[in-house]
Amino acid sequence: QTGYTALDYGFVNTAATKSKITYIDGEQGILRYRGYPIEQLASSSTYLEVSWLLIYGELPTADQLAEFDEKIRRHTLLHEDLKRFFSALPHTAHPMSVISSALSALSTFYENGANPNDPEQVELTTIRLLAKLPIIAAYAHKKSLGQAFLYPDNSLNFVDNFLKLNFGTMAEPYEIDPVLSKALDRLLILHADHEQNASTSTVRLVGSTGANLYASISAGINALSGPLHGGANEAVLQMLGQIRDSGESVQRFVERVKNKEDGVKLMGFGHRVYKNYDPRAKIVKESADEVLQALGISDPLLDLAKELEQIALEDDYFKERKLYPNVDFYTGVIYKAMGFPTRMFTVLFAIGRLPGWVAHWREMNTDPQTKIGRPQQLYIGSGARDLPQR
Ligand code: SDX
Repeated sequence: QTGYTALDYGFVNTAATKSKITYIDGEQGILRYRGYPIEQLASSSTYLEVSWLLIYGELPTADQLAEFDEKIRRHTLLHEDLKRFFSALPHTAHPMSVISSALSALSTFYENGANPNDPEQVELTTIRLLAKLPIIAAYAHKKSLGQAFLYPDNSLNFVDNFLKLNFGTMAEPYEIDPVLSKALDRLLILHADHEQNASTSTVRLVGSTGANLYASISAGINALSGPLHGGANEAVLQMLGQIRDSGESVQRFVERVKNKEDGVKLMGFGHRVYKNYDPRAKIVKESADEVLQALGISDPLLDLAKELEQIALEDDYFKERKLYPNVDFYTGVIYKAMGFPTRMFTVLFAIGRLPGWVAHWREMNTDPQTKIGRPQQLYIGSGARDLPQR
């Protein structure tokens, strides 16, 4: 018998993962990190404060945050041998492939630091990952441009240092733009965690085998790269660009989506959990207008995205399926306005999500109830049979 699902046989997997980190109500469109609403965190917190909150469970005191910030600044340098790793790759390499490989390579410089059973090493690895992933990401960007890598500038805060490493050059001083800085910090907060999404579940599953935090995060990056997950922010910009370049009307494109012509999807729409407007998408949409206005940029792709959203939200096909914009629908327009190439968009998602991945890995790793992951299977293949006589 084929085509039956576990539910048809009455099996419902009640062994849901228990976590204290993030709460989502898909029907109401609610998202909270450790109980704090995403709207409040996005408007008045910082990425580092949210990272601490996700990992340690409470808001940091001013001293704790200052020490956390200082520790991260002290770990931004990469081993000089690791920088040679980038020269082995083609400049056309996708930055998501670069950063996942570089993270695995990073672990080889800290063999003893990878021990998941040594709390001190887990703490140090947490700081190293938060400090070094942005540097590795910036180097992947510079590699694609054929430009020299800059050294981190520890006099700058986390986001400003990252912006300078991406857009600064050896030829002239780099001027920090506070608009970019604040917008990027807010976007990193919005991506910081999202309970048991595909990449976080991957991080937990890999970690449950006793694999170290570097290997688990590298696996999470690979899971995030898919266009149905984090790769959607890159796919949205490609979709908008194709509509613009084809001269096809938005209405005609929506009709093709509804007819499922060539499997086309409205990227940036729909969600496994949200059957209402993704609360993050609301914040990003407001931010897109602010950032482009502040930068004095008008991007026809933003207008196209709004027109697409308007048509879809009024169309029964999308309403019946409860398809709304998700976090990926508007982020790309902002990243593009900041100057990031499209292929860096999902890398920015990964940097945002890193504290959430680390928080979930640590929660799994310290839970005495944790067993090695082994998703249930319902066998629906052939019954026992013998090989033909030969
Ligand atoms: C992220 O899980 C998380 O939390 C993820 C994330 C996070 O923070 O970690 O929120 C980040 O990954 C956001 C999602 C980014 N992906 C995209 O934007 C890609 C486009 N979206 C779809 O691929 C889809 O909506 C998913 C994968 C996101 C969710 O798929 P579901 O819930 O399994 O929905 P489904 O595939 O069962 O679809 C139900 C119906 C189907 O139509 P019918 O077969 O009933 O006729 O809705 C249709 C689908 O064809 N549908 C879409 C659609 N999404 C679903 N039709 C057109 N365009 C879409 N985007």
